[in-house]
Amino acid sequence: MHALDWETMRRLLVTGGAGFIGANFVRLVAQQRPEVEITVLDKLTYAGNRANLDGVDAELVVGDVADERVVDKLVSQADTVVHFAAESHNDNSLRDPSPFLHTNIMGTFVLLEACRRHDVRLHHVSTDEVFGDLEIGADTYFTEETPYNPSSPYSATKAGSDHLVRAWVRSFGLRATISNCSNNYGPYQHIEKFIPRQITNLLLGQPAKLYGTGEQVRDWIHVDDHNEAVLAILDRGRIGETYNIGADQEDTNNRQVIEMICELMGATDDGQARFEHVADRPGHDQRYAMDANKLRRELGWSPRYTDLREGLAATIEWYRAHEEWWRAGKEEVEANYAKQGQ
Ligand code: NAD
Ligand code: TYD
Repeated sequence: MHALDWETMRRLLVTGGAGFIGANFVRLVAQQRPEVEITVLDKLTYAGNRANLDGVDAELVVGDVADERVVDKLVSQADTVVHFAAESHNDNSLRDPSPFLHTNIMGTFVLLEACRRHDVRLHHVSTDEVFGDLEIGADTYFTEETPYNPSSPYSATKAGSDHLVRAWVRSFGLRATISNCSNNYGPYQHIEKFIPRQITNLLLGQPAKLYGTGEQVRDWIHVDDHNEAVLAILDRGRIGETYNIGADQEDTNNRQVIEMICELMGATDDGQARFEHVADRPGHDQRYAMDANKLRRELGWSPRYTDLREGLAATIEWYRAHEEWWRAGKEEVEANYAKQGQ
């Protein structure tokens, strides 16, 4: 068990680097560590966008993380891989699980084999959803030891990918770490996701859309805090370890998040937030809450965005200023939701 010497990270491969968290990660590394050569492997699915990397000094290779030929070549040229590429949306996994199996399971397998062949350090980016859910209002948290209990095809395939990484560490001595993070928000997040969907609805004069009663709780974290944690793990994390990432913001339920967004955007009618209840998600996870003490204690990480209201205000401004980035895809996203009564 040893920490990676940062000095050895010179050629970084980022899978899924044209998506929300990956693109923010590439931007952060390019800004903070200009000596690092960055290559992005991204399939540019509906969720990937070349424009997310505009103005960034990184090479984009358009390809599939499950394509052994492409992956082998790119991994052989890298000393470090950070694996973000995934199908990432629960609601899509309920409509059609198949791409989730392909990318999240087979893609991770292909990447692991390439990292093994070329003895390349891997960091695997995962989610708190692998743990299942917690009771609303209970004083319970997910730790790194919480047994896996995924609910949806999305979280089941992410859980599967985590197990593969652990098996490659144990059986083949792969130099890998894993992080499980809570719900992210911030710039470049696809408008199918909860927070940007509401912001862009309100910007277009439409009501926000709340699933069911909206009592569900997520542990919101700003994407930059997540990515700073990934850098801390690359710098100082112990090989073979898993780190939970969360910002201790699990005291706001979905309904309250929508009310906050409406208030920040002035979208209220007679003091009432402008939202409507829509059909609930089948199998809806009730509450996620992370215990990130291992990361804080061992690696000295702590979040910079500790006030959800401030983080949301900045995110609203980003979407307001970047209508050209999200406008073209809005009708299709809403048409897909409408088919499910959402
Ligand atoms: P995203 O959907 O915005 O981006 C995913 C990216 O992966 C896209 O650019 C897409 O084109 C690319 N991709 C998809 N299939 C691919 C394939 N077969 N080959 C190559 N590229 C492919 O997702 P995100 O929200 O940025 O999530 C990134 C990672 O972080 C995922 O692994 C996700 O499970 C994890 N995560 C996300 C959250 C969250 O709140 N969004 C929280 C914790 C963990
Ligand atoms: P989402 O962003 O899909 O993330 P996840 O499923 O990974 O938690 O959804 C966050 C929460 O918001 C989840 O409880 C479902 C709820 N939600 C809504 O109430 N309305 C919406 O329009 C969406 C997309 C989600």
